[in-house]
Amino acid sequence: MKAIEIRNKYLNYFKSKGHVVIPSAPLIPENDASVLFTTAGMQPLVPYLLGQKHPNGTRLTDYQKCLRTVDIDEVGDNRHLTYFEMLGNWSLGDYFKEESISMSYEFLTKELGIPVEKLSVTCFAGDSDCARDEESAKVWKKVGVPEEKIYFFGKDDNWWIAGENGPCGPDTEMFYDTGKPKCSSECNPSCGCGKYVEIWNNVFMEFYKNEDGTYKKLSQKNVDTGLGLERINMLLQGKETPYDTELFVPVMDKLLELTPYKENIQSRRIVAEHLRASMMIISDGGRPSNIDRGYILRRLIRRMIRHLNKLEINLNEISTLVDVYKDTLGEMYPDLVLKNKEIKQVIIDEKDKFVKTLEHGQRELEKVLNRAKQENKTILETSTVFNLYETYGFPPEVTKEIAEEQGYSVDLKEIDKLFKEHQEKSKTGSDKKFKGGLSGSGEMETKYHTATHLLNAALKVILGPETHQAGSNITPERMRFDFPCDHKLTDDEKKKIEDLINEWIEEGLNVTNTEMKKEDAVATGAEAMFIERYPDIVTVYTIGDVSKEICMGPHVENTKVLGHFKIQKEEASSAGVRRIKAVLIN
Ligand code: SER
Repeated sequence: MKAIEIRNKYLNYFKSKGHVVIPSAPLIPENDASVLFTTAGMQPLVPYLLGQKHPNGTRLTDYQKCLRTVDIDEVGDNRHLTYFEMLGNWSLGDYFKEESISMSYEFLTKELGIPVEKLSVTCFAGDSDCARDEESAKVWKKVGVPEEKIYFFGKDDNWWIAGENGPCGPDTEMFYDTGKPKCSSECNPSCGCGKYVEIWNNVFMEFYKNEDGTYKKLSQKNVDTGLGLERINMLLQGKETPYDTELFVPVMDKLLELTPYKENIQSRRIVAEHLRASMMIISDGGRPSNIDRGYILRRLIRRMIRHLNKLEINLNEISTLVDVYKDTLGEMYPDLVLKNKEIKQVIIDEKDKFVKTLEHGQRELEKVLNRAKQENKTILETSTVFNLYETYGFPPEVTKEIAEEQGYSVDLKEIDKLFKEHQEKSKTGSDKKFKGGLSGSGEMETKYHTATHLLNAALKVILGPETHQAGSNITPERMRFDFPCDHKLTDDEKKKIEDLINEWIEEGLNVTNTEMKKEDAVATGAEAMFIERYPDIVTVYTIGDVSKEICMGPHVENTKVLGHFKIQKEEASSAGVRRIKAVLIN
């Protein structure tokens, strides 16, 4: 079986159990600064786990593109990936433990044909926040997992939460026994020796963790499950690493063909992994830069280039490698085909920049290392590493790798700290400029925020109440708004939308806001637009009686200052999603 077949089997199985297949959310959450990338399938669903009604009902399934960057430096070993695909199914206050576990068991044993002897499961052992999960264990026994294969662990192993607070709960995890010998008599699924590989995690999300660390019950009992596609694919094919499956083999083979260093499998893995992740980020709109998401992408591309150099592969071959992935993964991710040219261009531009940086920085680093040698140092000072970055743009990770090759240690944590301070400073700098009114762009962005709420409300009136925001982006020059819609808007529809918004603007509606508990906000019918985690207390913005949305602002005080609203363009954003670009004219 191939990965794409597993994906299809999964979605079809859950469809047959009454789930609606929803599309993968983009890797880059729109309009949300609280996380850099989508790291789990549940993230875009948070409002619905908290009680908001999902337009597709209470049983959902999808495949979700995910990126986790905590382990970047581990990539190259036999299991860590930054980009991966997670198959998921959700119950939003619908079924709970019994049905969830029964379906997982049936899918693994019947659909994927995994013998029950290969499975072990773990359940939550219980503590003062939440009782021992005997219920899950009972269901596992009932479906056919022998008692000695059912383990209980505490919060470290069997509790799931994204980040510090938010919806969470005990989970039950399924492990695949690779058949390797036990590492000790105590060897069990939590030990990490490689005998047991976690394949699926069913989270029973009935709690919410507050900022103060306490837990409260959610208004509904949810299930959130996640099955890592690359991993299950590898196990079913009896392979040792994901790089040995059809997802990576063509690129790994190409790299092997191109390099004289046939032994260096680690660098080949790093190139293969980082290139795939970069392509996925770029295809979802990411671009390299020096901050946040852009910096992660930059790091991935640059680390890849550094390992291509190690492998002595001509950097012009990047185009060839992108094409190999286009052929390998195009069916799973059509954007890699559609945006092939764009992806290549972004990576090649970044490569050109990095090559220049490397030339300068490497010369400087050599000087620095020579000095360190003369002074008999074993550690490269943080300030030196940081200076190389500030003056030559030479990335600390690269300094670390080169320095370590020559026997010096570098403390990246310290550097991270300096880096953050530096970013804070430049941010304050630009905030100051901003407030000084250099361009007045803060004012325009504020206006566009309010206009976005009006557009959202107008679309509901003109196209139907189910219309909702799927994404938005604001610059001082314009606003952009995505929404699910099955047709190109007619001129008449566009005119009606513009007229309605301009009417509201002319009416001079007051824009007010109040803070309230998130649950109360949802209960009063406020639109919950952010596809991500909400803080406990949210701000609800109300515009006259036409719009009520949870939002962080900022907004104007009265619509009359907005001027005239005009749609500049209406186009397809992706399948079934339309995009409006609009401006406010004074
Ligand atoms: N949220 C859980 C995870 O990411 C299950 O989907 O593992």
